[in-house]
Amino acid sequence: MENKVTPKGTAQLTVNGQTHDLPILGGSIGPDVIDIRTLYKNTGMFTYDPGFTSTASCESTITYIDGDEGTLLYRGYPIDQLAENASFIEVAYLLLHGELPTTQDLHDFDWTIRRHTMLHDQFDAFFRGFRRDAHPMAIMVGSVGALSAFYHDSTDVNDLRAREISAHRMIAKMPTIASRAYKYSIGQPFVSPRNELDYASNFLRMCFAVPAEDYVVSKTLARAMDKIFILHADHEQNASTSTVRLAGSSGANPFACIASGIASLWGPAHGGANEAALNMLAEIGSVDRIPEYISKAKDKNDPFRLMGFGHRVYKNYDPRAKVMRETCHEVLDALDVRDEPLLAVAMELEKIALEDPYFVEKKLYPNIDFYSGITLKAMGFPTEMFTVLFALARTVGWIAQWGEMIEDPSQKIGRPRQAFTGSPIRDFVPLDKR
Ligand code: CMC
Repeated sequence: MENKVTPKGTAQLTVNGQTHDLPILGGSIGPDVIDIRTLYKNTGMFTYDPGFTSTASCESTITYIDGDEGTLLYRGYPIDQLAENASFIEVAYLLLHGELPTTQDLHDFDWTIRRHTMLHDQFDAFFRGFRRDAHPMAIMVGSVGALSAFYHDSTDVNDLRAREISAHRMIAKMPTIASRAYKYSIGQPFVSPRNELDYASNFLRMCFAVPAEDYVVSKTLARAMDKIFILHADHEQNASTSTVRLAGSSGANPFACIASGIASLWGPAHGGANEAALNMLAEIGSVDRIPEYISKAKDKNDPFRLMGFGHRVYKNYDPRAKVMRETCHEVLDALDVRDEPLLAVAMELEKIALEDPYFVEKKLYPNIDFYSGITLKAMGFPTEMFTVLFALARTVGWIAQWGEMIEDPSQKIGRPRQAFTGSPIRDFVPLDKR
């Protein structure tokens, strides 16, 4: 990848009476950046930005978000247009290659992914090492990392073809691993992939078929699953993607890097939020208890937050939430579960929060996780699987971002600095003198 940020002027920074010029660089859209790479060398100072709220850590051409406008673009295409018109495999190609595939490209890519769905036979034995009650995300972190032990012929990060093969392997095998994580936790035999099925249908079948009875995949549910995968496929430099890039910046192999992304995604402030949102709806239980929970969320002394509300970047309606809301209703209609009590709580909570001055002033809108939890539950997934499905879809984005980082000529090992506030140097005190 060729660096494309262009000079747009200079910013002046005065430190201890001395003024330093810092280049301002611009991308194609979005905020310009101040290039501070020489700051430490010239001033002996670091910048301080916990949580990276004002720091661009890389140049990227993959995903663009305008949080104030509520815009999300993959390679320039709006997320709602992709969700409406493309398949997940088409979107995966777009994220990886930068352009929508031609008919032939799509056919070839789809064929390749379908032919990488099986796992090494010994991998199944590997699963048996986990406890049955293990959280499926624990199994995902462990087993995706373990792919590097099974497929070490594609771990050379400097070899383009090896990078491609590892990408195809992960995209293709993730549904097989995710469904096995689920089957293992419920004590059912693993269901092998069927390569004549499309990506989403194959995954649903591997989750819900049993040897005694096949699972006939509904077109509505398969399309909903595919849309959920599209909506979750990438989200620029979020915590898990930055984790993947940071892990990869040392030259670590792609399977290990994606495992690190899964670990980061697991947290309730990130990918775990849809599970947390559904648990919260269950805890609220009925519409008449909503005001009590709204007060808790507003109380500064109460750590409770409305899960599925708010976003670090979107200070407007999350564009993914709009599509997810529609998909949620389609699934509930198809399954005829309109009177689901959690849904009644969710709809009322959404209404109240969108009108409440606390949420309006802080621009706390429902995010994608608010609706995805309800949809996935209706489809038959237990809450523990929600983040697993997110990880499955986000794998494509992680791989695209990881590949972009490897090809970036300005790439260096990630090494943040710190403002040290611990003890200055002191002499060791022997045990009997403490
Ligand atoms: N409920 C109640 N108050 C909230 C909430 C919430 N869900 N989210 C933020 N606030 C308040 C917060 O207390 C703070 O108030 P004040 O300014 O008075 O101190 C203000 O809004 C700003 O919050 P913040 O924590 O500074 O915002 P952030 O950008 O650091 O946090 C967030 C973003 C997503 C972590 C947060 O909104 C949150 O915890 N939401 C619930 C968890 C959730 O749904 N996460 C999924 C995010 S979407 C999936 C993804 O992309 O990974």
